Amino acid sequence: MEQPFAENIGSGSGLLAQARALLGGQRDLVANAANLSALLFYALEQVNWVGFYFLKDGQLVVGPFQGRPACVTIPLGSGVCGTAAATRRVQRVADVHDFPGHIACDVESRSEIVVPLLADGTLLGVLDLDSPVARRFTRQDEELLVEIAECFVQSVDWRGRVA
Ligand code: SME
Repeated sequence: MEQPFAENIGSGSGLLAQARALLGGQRDLVANAANLSALLFYALEQVNWVGFYFLKDGQLVVGPFQGRPACVTIPLGSGVCGTAAATRRVQRVADVHDFPGHIACDVESRSEIVVPLLADGTLLGVLDLDSPVARRFTRQDEELLVEIAECFVQSVDWRGRVA
């Protein structure tokens, strides 16, 4: 049974408003990525990893996150994150055991959603959320996370930060 994940803090638009307020006054990449990963990790139920990978030298490199230590680099096209990055499409995976090439950073993870970070079609990185519960992320969750990811991308001064 799918459940909207923002229930514990009210509506999804409430979470988007919180993200806007948190990121609005700051342009620094690390500051905003760190604060947004913490906001999502503590606001959402049933998540065990929330964080960022950024594009550097043609591969994804881990950025600020909440959760267990994660793999540092992911080639484009590998795993759920690398697939989202290579295709520039959201990957919403109901059960990671069914995703060929899934990279298990935390063995507890059962479902995952990865949102590509794009500015005018240019890939900057991905926002990744893992859950210990299968089928955790709904279509509504996906829509909300896409809006939050856009808010994050617009909040940051990206000059010289990714390659
Ligand atoms: N599971 C991801 C790797 C990153 S972690 O979940 C933090 C993947 O398959 O790309």
